[in-house]
Amino acid sequence: MKIMVTGGAGFIGSNFIRHMLTSYPEHSILNLDNLTYAGNLENLKGIESLSHYTFIKGDIADARLLESIEFDAIINFAAESHVDRSILNAYPFLQTNVIGTQCLLEAAKKRKCRILHVSTDEVYGSIEEGLFIETSTVLPNSPYAASKASADLLARAYHETYGLDVSVTRCSNNYGPYQFPEKLIPLVILNAIEGKQIPVYGDGKNVRDWIHVSDHCKAIDLIFHKGKAGTVYNVGARNEVQNIDIIKKILMIMDEKKRHEKRSFTDLIAYVQDRPGHDRRYAIDPTKVETELGWRPEIDFDKGISSTVEWYMENREWWKSILSGEYMDYYKQQYDGRFRE
Ligand code: NAD
Ligand code: TYD
Repeated sequence: MKIMVTGGAGFIGSNFIRHMLTSYPEHSILNLDNLTYAGNLENLKGIESLSHYTFIKGDIADARLLESIEFDAIINFAAESHVDRSILNAYPFLQTNVIGTQCLLEAAKKRKCRILHVSTDEVYGSIEEGLFIETSTVLPNSPYAASKASADLLARAYHETYGLDVSVTRCSNNYGPYQFPEKLIPLVILNAIEGKQIPVYGDGKNVRDWIHVSDHCKAIDLIFHKGKAGTVYNVGARNEVQNIDIIKKILMIMDEKKRHEKRSFTDLIAYVQDRPGHDRRYAIDPTKVETELGWRPEIDFDKGISSTVEWYMENREWWKSILSGEYMDYYKQQYDGRFRE
């Protein structure tokens, strides 16, 4: 089977491609990514030369390009993914997350092939108590969440109208290696290493439900292979944490690793102006994927955070090239003339 993974140069997509190439050497993986600021081919270092892996630089909203590519199934990670950027400018979010997803649904419809659309728990909005289930009302609060919710509704409509074999996953906040350092966890680690302020939005008591990226990837693999068409699956690890607690946990781990320095990293914490429309709490119920498909998260949060801190401390070259902007040139040096533009 030739699986087209879109957005495979990003955080979750690159982790997923590594997982698939190891788990299914019989499948070939085609990575379609247009390398926005969040796409980084260094995330895929070491696998570029594998015979069952191909990279195509291209836009998921390019319908003609999609027609020219051969594939048997699609897994869609490609997105504009950062809430703060969507507050500054929502247009790219609608273009990629809505129009781009619609182009992929259309391409899957033409080929009568399966498509898994990777979405987010943020489509449900904020919840004060209890947990969101798959049938909870979709009430997105940020432009990012609204664009993802729109794509989810299109996926549903393509199933109802055309019988498309499409499933949607809604996962909670991911952490782990290769996450772009504008998101909370890598930002805290890198700012601490560099002695920069750690901005805590509002009172720091907003709650996110955290899952290690490798557990998310395994859930997607399972839902792609065994999930029902026309349905949504929540994916989460029942792991709610307030932002300030996660920040302190990371900084304590880092303090322990640098005992000789007198100053504690926690001195870097700075409360700043809140994000507009900041969702107070995300919390999802993953019972459906657990009972229907037998998925369980495997990574304990404390161990996962600790190994994530270590990964960023040990992979300075990776993030230094992002902070300096060099990573944008990497694909040119590595791939010039060897892939389609
Ligand atoms: P990311 O921003 O790290 O990666 C997105 C990738 O998509 C990048 O490689 C980028 O170059 C590519 N891309 C963007 N626009 C494109 C386009 N028009 N055509 C082709 N490629 C394009 O994002 P991520 O954190 O890896 O998230 C992946 C998916 O998972 C997204 O759909 C996101 O909504 C969803 N998700 C993320 C989280 C999370 O915590 N990060 C949680 C739940 C769901
Ligand atoms: P983020 O990683 O942007 O993910 P999302 O907004 O999709 O949940 O943010 C996670 C939480 O951390 C969110 O409540 C906003 C907060 N946050 C900060 O307090 N400071 C920061 O610098 C960032 C990036 C986020």
